[in-house]
Amino acid sequence: MAATGTNSNGASAYYVTTPIYYVNDRPHLGHAYTTVAGDVLTRWHRQRGEKVWYLTGTDEHGQKIMRTADANGVTPQQWCDKLVEEAWKPLWEHLEIANDDFIRTTQERHTHRVQEFVQDLYDKGEVYQGGYEGPYCVGCEEYKSPGDLLDGEDGAKLCPIHKRPVEMLKEENYFFKLSAYGPRLLEFYEANPGFIQPESARNEVLQFVRQGLQDLSISRSTFDWGIPIPWDPKHVIYVWVDALLNYATAVGYGADPAKFDATFPADVHLVGKDILRFHAVIWPAMLMAQGLPLPRKVVANGWLMVGGEKMSKSNLTGIAPQDLTSHFGVDAYRWYFLRAIQFGQDGSFSWEDFTARYTSELANDFGNLASRVAAMVGRYFDGKLPAAEAPGDAEQAVADGLARAVAEADRRIGDEVDFSGGIAAVFDFIKQVNGYLTEQEPWKVAKDGSAESRARLATILYTAAESLRAVAVLLNPVMPAAAAKLWDSLGAEASLGALADQRVGEAADWGRLPAGSTVTKGDILFPRLEEKKDA
Ligand code: MSP
Repeated sequence: MAATGTNSNGASAYYVTTPIYYVNDRPHLGHAYTTVAGDVLTRWHRQRGEKVWYLTGTDEHGQKIMRTADANGVTPQQWCDKLVEEAWKPLWEHLEIANDDFIRTTQERHTHRVQEFVQDLYDKGEVYQGGYEGPYCVGCEEYKSPGDLLDGEDGAKLCPIHKRPVEMLKEENYFFKLSAYGPRLLEFYEANPGFIQPESARNEVLQFVRQGLQDLSISRSTFDWGIPIPWDPKHVIYVWVDALLNYATAVGYGADPAKFDATFPADVHLVGKDILRFHAVIWPAMLMAQGLPLPRKVVANGWLMVGGEKMSKSNLTGIAPQDLTSHFGVDAYRWYFLRAIQFGQDGSFSWEDFTARYTSELANDFGNLASRVAAMVGRYFDGKLPAAEAPGDAEQAVADGLARAVAEADRRIGDEVDFSGGIAAVFDFIKQVNGYLTEQEPWKVAKDGSAESRARLATILYTAAESLRAVAVLLNPVMPAAAAKLWDSLGAEASLGALADQRVGEAADWGRLPAGSTVTKGDILFPRLEEKKDA
């Protein structure tokens, strides 16, 4: 199966991309959703011991950016520079996104290669000159099919995504012969059933391509904020053709063949469902036209909704991620959206749901478990982790539960890009460990000072601490700061080395945390929210 890419032999990287974001505005929860997902996916694969390449960046050309810059009285380049440095890069740092590169489509490493790519298509006879007239949505930067439009007031036709009037555009453009690629694309989807995920997204694309594709206009001549068409510089290259190529130019297309071959194509393109066709139809056709390898998977995520509508800055419903991290913290933020929403489905954000899940799963189930175990090892064993002297069936059941959780989480997150399923497996295990403690009642066992009870107490606390050792490894990709705190509090750094070097597979190896490790009661992992507000 193509799911895990080519890197099992270590030769090439597991390459994951986010969409490159338009910098006409500041980031909101919807943008951060995909970028956090990609970060968790790539951190997971790094913890499998694989070579990984995680790319994000910004899409800086086109009319939307040009108009925003104009309205703000600056040049488009000045606008992009400001937003990238003041809003986008700082957010990714704040959210602990460990991207390996950040591409901006105004960089020379990109623009030159895009020109070469398009020139090459032209030289191969894949591009011709023609005219086009149709309704255009600047929000989408896309010509729309008249049949897809909604009716607005006064007979206006509206974009179904942005709910704003489309503009009639008539242009002499260059066209890419996209229509010729329909049959080859259908064959490819057929041969690679896992290429588009989820199933609903795959079906949408199949239906779209089966209807027959139209050629794609790949140039614009009514404005100039873009990359000039090399053979006819009165035209600029259509922003989507420019943008899609970032996935190639960022990894050395036409410039660094060794890097390109070791990285390209992407193992997973993560995209919002509104930009699925660009990634699952146009992008593969562009690559086919050049004889380049196709991506292994395009995974479409759903939308974060507010009041039944897609959250967006243009509709003034865009919530800044910092508004939530300042209340819940970065770890809980990274965890919440992936935990609460099945990846691929739409999901509504609500403070109530976030607060409830934070309290029950993070503060009560997970945070309490960690602090109770550390406190008991402190109280009964002076902070030195005792050996499990008398393990029995109950301990075996915990070890078995861990093995199941590791296998399930690894398959769900690592192979299937199913974050909620993978995280649920880990939290089910946390529940199991809580249940184990409730049944074993170590606080009662401690009251009886017999040697037998002492051995029993040691066994119970070792079992709980060892479970937490594995939980820290499994949650590290999702909540790196909390996992690191837990790792420290178990004294695992000293006995097992850096958390980042722990392999997912080894998480299930029962007994890795050595007896004698120094367990300390560190900071509370997930403070109660009301306390936090008062603080
Ligand atoms: N620049 C293009 C992408 C080019 S990729 C070669 C673009 N940019 S965007 O900034 O408008 O959107 C980027 C991503 O953010 C898209 O995947 C889009 O689906 C996602 N989201 C924007 N609002 C969203 C929500 N409310 N919820 C989830 N994701 C959403 O399109």
